[in-house]
Amino acid sequence: MSIKYFSNSMIFNILISFLVLKSGNGIGIISQNQTMADGGTLVSSGQTFVLGFFNPKDSTNRYLGIWYKRTPETVVWVANREIPLTDSNGILTISNDGNLVILNATKGVIWSSKSNSPGAAKTNYLVAELLDSGNLVLRRKDQDSNTESYIWQSFDFPTDTLLPGMKLGSSSRTGKNWYLTSWKNGSDPSLGEFTYELDNTFTGLPQFVLRKGLQEKFRSGPWNGQRFSGSSVKNNTITTPSFVYDNQEVYYTFELRNSLVLSRVIMNESGLIQRSLLNEGSSDWSIMYTLPYDKCDEYGKCGPNGICIINKDPICDCLEGFVPKSQEDWNVLNWSSGCTRRIPLDCKQTQSFGRLGNVKLPDLLEHRLNQSMTIWDCERECLMDCSCTAYTNSNINNGGSGCLMWFGDLIDIQGSVFRDGEQDIYVKMPESEFALLRNRKKKKALRNILTPIVSGWVLVICFVTWCIIKKRKKKRGLKTGNEGIELPLFQLEAVTNATKNFSFTNIIGEGGFGPVYRGQLSSGVEIAVKRLSRDSGQGLGEFKNEVILISRLQHRNLVRLLGYCLDGDERMLIYEYMLNRSLNYFIFDQSRKKLLPWKNRFEIALGISRGLLYLHQDSRLRIIHRDLKAGNILLDSELNPKISDFGIAKSFEGDQMQGKTKRVIGTYGYMSPEYAFRGTYSVKSDVFSLGVLLLELVSGRRNRILDHSDQHESLLGHAWLLWNEDKALELMDECLKESFVESQMLRCIQVALLCVQKLPEDRPTMASVVSMLSNESVSLPQPKHPGFFMECSTLVSDKSNEERFHTFSAVTITMPEGR
Ligand SMILES: *[C@@H]1O[C@H](CO)[C@@H](O)[C@H](O)[C@H]1NC(C)=O
Ligand SMILES: *[C@@H]1O[C@H](CO)[C@@H](O)[C@H](O)[C@H]1NC(C)=O
Ligand SMILES: *[C@@H]1O[C@H](CO)[C@@H](O)[C@H](O)[C@H]1NC(C)=O
Ligand SMILES: *[C@@H]1O[C@H](CO)[C@@H](O)[C@H](O)[C@H]1NC(C)=O
Ligand SMILES: *[C@@H]1O[C@H](CO)[C@@H](O)[C@H](O)[C@H]1NC(C)=O
Ligand SMILES: *[C@@H]1O[C@H](CO)[C@@H](O)[C@H](O)[C@H]1NC(C)=O
Ligand SMILES: *[C@@H]1O[C@H](CO)[C@@H](O)[C@H](O)[C@H]1NC(C)=O
Repeated sequence: MSIKYFSNSMIFNILISFLVLKSGNGIGIISQNQTMADGGTLVSSGQTFVLGFFNPKDSTNRYLGIWYKRTPETVVWVANREIPLTDSNGILTISNDGNLVILNATKGVIWSSKSNSPGAAKTNYLVAELLDSGNLVLRRKDQDSNTESYIWQSFDFPTDTLLPGMKLGSSSRTGKNWYLTSWKNGSDPSLGEFTYELDNTFTGLPQFVLRKGLQEKFRSGPWNGQRFSGSSVKNNTITTPSFVYDNQEVYYTFELRNSLVLSRVIMNESGLIQRSLLNEGSSDWSIMYTLPYDKCDEYGKCGPNGICIINKDPICDCLEGFVPKSQEDWNVLNWSSGCTRRIPLDCKQTQSFGRLGNVKLPDLLEHRLNQSMTIWDCERECLMDCSCTAYTNSNINNGGSGCLMWFGDLIDIQGSVFRDGEQDIYVKMPESEFALLRNRKKKKALRNILTPIVSGWVLVICFVTWCIIKKRKKKRGLKTGNEGIELPLFQLEAVTNATKNFSFTNIIGEGGFGPVYRGQLSSGVEIAVKRLSRDSGQGLGEFKNEVILISRLQHRNLVRLLGYCLDGDERMLIYEYMLNRSLNYFIFDQSRKKLLPWKNRFEIALGISRGLLYLHQDSRLRIIHRDLKAGNILLDSELNPKISDFGIAKSFEGDQMQGKTKRVIGTYGYMSPEYAFRGTYSVKSDVFSLGVLLLELVSGRRNRILDHSDQHESLLGHAWLLWNEDKALELMDECLKESFVESQMLRCIQVALLCVQKLPEDRPTMASVVSMLSNESVSLPQPKHPGFFMECSTLVSDKSNEERFHTFSAVTITMPEGR
């Protein structure tokens, strides 16, 4: 198209050079040495827009502007906003120094595009063109209409209107900032009080803010990776909106879906943002929406720490744990003073977080953003920083990532704006506040039950309740074997509170039988709660098994069970919480693996071996774990390894060292061949798993058996190959290069290979493993061929689950019975 117009304008130049353009000639281009006087117009190629001089209603001032051809009163852009012409003698032309200029009667420049172009002095070098998008551009005559080559364009200087293809935002490359400013009033296009601008473009999370002067009036809420929290960037039948967010540019723009419909966004002079549209054949613009939309959109309607919910009466409330700052103001529905904490935060006291679900995030006044932190780091960081008041994920894509923290008051929160997936934030509260809240809830619940009951009944009901409770208590006390070891029984309510009602964000892992939650008891003790899912397949039998087994075990390398919870269908195990999660969280992660140098790894290897030795030989019950894997090795604050997850462990008596099962449960990659194929297990199957684990510790690689066609693809095959070629050290993870001790490393690899030998009887016992690992003087036998899976295709695996969570993550699989 532009080429056509190029040639058109050539002819045009020759014919009427130096003539003043008069209206209606339909050519959208002015060349150098041409002028457009007041009364003349440029019409865009598709006849959508017109450029010319106009005067606003009730005003005699003249302005150069762009308007729709169909509705001439709808001005979308004004050049000389601030300096009007007072008569009809204005002229638009291109100056010799390469500016688009407006001259007055005495040839004084009253407006300039300030786009000095070096080569402009050359004859007929530049042209100004009104594109059909409504964009007035200044470009070199010999170049196409390619956005990048425009010397100047009106789209870079929006007034009060956003047209399709225009941007709202900024560019770090060019330093441009695109925003809307209202007209002063309907008859004066000069800069009004209201602006609509994208804030925090390269310094935090972008959000649109509407201001009157410097005062915020409305904001879109921060960008959360999908949309602006509290608003939506959704496709509709009229426009396709998009938001570009990268290192160079951050902006919102939209395109029209249907060329017959026109649409624009305007910042009107009373501070309202309107999107309106004009259908084909109509000359009346209809308004699609207006922002701010309702009372809750008014900035800070409910004051600091208040929350606005439009379908509540009154619309304002204080956040949980907060009370009105001034009850008198609050009583007369003046909420602007907001709320203050019922119990002040005291950094010396225990603190916790309350979840505030489905809200438009508070304004980003004092805040900190780190896109690479996880929600856990975020929580920890916020706990450690005394002045941090709340946190959340900064990006909600892929289950959430990044960390956004607030300091000081939380302002302009809206509840349930869009029910489908607004964001949750976590507000810091003193632990004592939680206790208060719980009591209130309990009282409320009790009141609700008791109110309708005539007092005479109360005694009866109390008596019956008492009986039921007594009976249930009796039922709950779990008999743990002959010795009747009594482990603390936790009330469901205590566990529910500790895990914030089993909040999704408290999930730290997925075990074979259900999710594992992190929690904090009211005493401040941190716990890990393994909640067995109802359809987990772990029956009451297995549950009791785990409770009984582990309650009798006491070793520094085994995770400690603090108690259990049994209530109706709910079955939960409560463990001590491990600060450093699990081994797989470190060794398989490219950045975290560096945090575990060889010294720690070797100690972890020894620790696991000692724990396993205790299980096999030294404990009163002799136990085969059957599911030893990196995900089940938890690490405490000092990186001491603790074996966990005894859900499928078996105890054996005396010399009965071997069992057989039809139901093979275990984890892909760690299972010994005899267990996987024949269902026979013994202490030597645990030894095999340990061997795999040691190789993983050394190599930082998982023993994946994905492609069964090539055994050497597996970690065991690879290790075996290198060992035979005398290149065992090549197995080592790169990140250990600086920290490893050669003799220990080689010993570790050799012991591992001994552990994964094909025949169980060739594998060492745990007692030998511990002594071989810890004692340099013990000589080691040569390992034989390792045991591989040969026909794994029948194994059922759920890879989608793999690494879903950081802890307890490797998958436990079940093989169908009767193979
Ligand atoms: C345009 O104007 C300049 C200065 O007024 C003059 O030097 C140049 O020759 C003119 N070009 C044409 C094509 O008339
Ligand atoms: C034209 O503009 C110049 C520069 O702004 C100014 O000095 C001059 O007075 C103006 N002339 C008229 C007639 O407005
Ligand atoms: C618009 O604003 C100008 C100057 O700010 C003022 O003189 C004029 O009276 C206003 N017009 C209307 C209709 O409010
Ligand atoms: C909106 O529509 C465009 C074009 O049809 C498409 O490319 C884009 O993915 C859509 N976006 C959403 C969020 O549906
Ligand atoms: C601004 O927009 C609002 C909402 O559509 C409208 O009620 C108001 O009249 C507009 N103001 C002006 C001055 O046009
Ligand atoms: C609301 O209360 C504040 C002081 O707390 C006062 O400054 C403000 O004027 C009041 N607003 C209204 C509408 O009464
Ligand atoms: C963000 O967090 C990561 C991981 O916690 C940390 O390494 C990095 O230094 C942080 N970046 C900033 C700018 O604080």
